[in-house]
Amino acid sequence: MSFGERIAIKSRNEIQQMRDVGQKTAEILLELREKARPGVTTQQLDNLAAKGLEKRGLNSPFLGYAPGGVAPYPAVLCASINDEIVHGIPGSRELKEGDIISLDFGVELGGWHGDTAVTVAVGSVTSEAEKLIATTHEAMEQGIEKMVPGNRLSDIGHAVEKRALKEKYGVVHQFVGHGIGKEMHEPPQVPNYGRPGRGPRLRPGMIFAIEPMVNIGSDKVKVLKDEWTAVTVDGSLSAHFEHTVLITDNGPEVLTRITGSH
Ligand code: MF3
Ligand code: CO
Ligand code: CO
Repeated sequence: MSFGERIAIKSRNEIQQMRDVGQKTAEILLELREKARPGVTTQQLDNLAAKGLEKRGLNSPFLGYAPGGVAPYPAVLCASINDEIVHGIPGSRELKEGDIISLDFGVELGGWHGDTAVTVAVGSVTSEAEKLIATTHEAMEQGIEKMVPGNRLSDIGHAVEKRALKEKYGVVHQFVGHGIGKEMHEPPQVPNYGRPGRGPRLRPGMIFAIEPMVNIGSDKVKVLKDEWTAVTVDGSLSAHFEHTVLITDNGPEVLTRITGSH
């Protein structure tokens, strides 16, 4: 893992804008998760997300995103069902009782970005699925707790991994968290694994998106022919949570958390 690039320290004014966009991102994701019920298509969820953006005068950093020349991402939402890990492209597939769905949503406002994801149960799901969702959320929380000045970058991923490995789950290595601000993806990369005590010291004003992806089985990933949808190689269920988090002198401030959100 390369820790080399410069990590931006946001000014007071920039932090205020990140708070604003973070809260708006959270607000829309909360609306979406409430609509994830049996019979709803992921396309309908994407349409709803697009309306939420339009109504508030916000832009999508997802739509048209094409890192490294891949096919431009065609939607404003990532909707990943069951064995899909991340970057599921919305379409005509209907959610059914017992599915789990990860909704990953991003917003751009005035050049600043918010990025947040949640995995929810569609109706009632197996206890295995419930446990995966709860554990992945806890793993993210463990990582967030390490986001205090003076800790090192790799302390975050170490804490995330430790929680997931306790259940013998597979922690995805192929996708990682990231700095966020002027760009949706800024340095540094924030892996969800690794040894503690490595990398740069965390400082107030740094903002990272923390986003563990955890599989019941193997951590191995396969990307489908659509160039985006990432699935587990063994077909096991996968969960994903994400928050945009500011490091402050008083500890982590979760910019994409509002009452009722994850
Ligand atoms: N939101 C994703 C992340 O957490 C990136 C999605 S890129 C897209 O970093 F093009 F798929 F939208
Ligand atoms: Co995201
Ligand atoms: Co992200």
